[in-house]
Amino acid sequence: MRTVIDIDIDILNRDFLAEAPNIPDASIDLIVADPPYGLGKNYGNDSDMLSGEAFLKWTYRWLDLAIPKLKPSGSLYIFCTWQYSPELFVFLKRRLLMINEIVWDRRVPSMGGTTRKYSSVHDNIGYFVVSKDYYFDLDPVRIPYDTVTKKARSRKIFEGSKWLEMGYNPKDVWSVSRLHRQHVERVDHPTQKPLEIVERMVLASCPPGGRVLDPFMGSGTTAVACARHGRQFGGYEINADYCEIVHKRVADARVGRIVVPMENAQIIEEADE
Ligand SMILES: C[S@@+](CC[C@H](N)C(=O)[O-])C[C@H]1O[C@@H](n2cnc3c(N)ncnc32)[C@H](O)[C@@H]1O
Repeated sequence: MRTVIDIDIDILNRDFLAEAPNIPDASIDLIVADPPYGLGKNYGNDSDMLSGEAFLKWTYRWLDLAIPKLKPSGSLYIFCTWQYSPELFVFLKRRLLMINEIVWDRRVPSMGGTTRKYSSVHDNIGYFVVSKDYYFDLDPVRIPYDTVTKKARSRKIFEGSKWLEMGYNPKDVWSVSRLHRQHVERVDHPTQKPLEIVERMVLASCPPGGRVLDPFMGSGTTAVACARHGRQFGGYEINADYCEIVHKRVADARVGRIVVPMENAQIIEEADE
């Protein structure tokens, strides 16, 4: 018999900007925000059709609603693109402490592409916290060394090193394939994020049993990560069909029916000695 993970997962088919005032201030450990990027994607609504100043104005509005919900130990990750990350990071640095800019390399294969600039194959992720006392646990997100690398580092000076046994810091460039149509995780959402990425955020930046907020759920990747790892979750999505997908994915996760291929686990680190 499979174990059912009993954790509070609230899937709300509502507009985050309208509902934010109902969330108590200082109640959230982690916000994972993957908003419309302003790139004209079709989410069954016109939420991604804003651009330029109008997009920035809308983004500043929801950020100002979301930030007070964080506890003093809380963290915010925001997915964005190079087109808007400069303005967004300046805005956020006036309100929070910036810890990292993470580059998600989507491992897009080389196929000709544009000839008037370099092909863009990454998303920018801003990682911000409320205070210096932010929660961060590296151990559950360390990447294990493969046996070859471990053996290569068997010199006396490395003996007993925690990092050699437990794995290394994932660093700030995360090379994880986007979810192409045939990918085992893929559901019917145009910008679904890989679980491997979101799970890393949840495990490192939300204590077990803590509460995560996702203002723009999409297919519910953050909800699935929380269901799998015992974090409470509240998420908002305006498209009812996507909410159905989230319900199904969370039900599968609760009974352990979701498998995440860990792409990075077997990568051989280049020797840096
Ligand atoms: C980039 S997608 C999120 C993808 C998600 N991280 C995943 O892995 O599937 C953004 C989502 O926000 C939703 N959305 C747009 N405006 C919204 C709003 N005001 N409140 C709640 N959801 C909204 C869109 O319908 C879209 O599904």
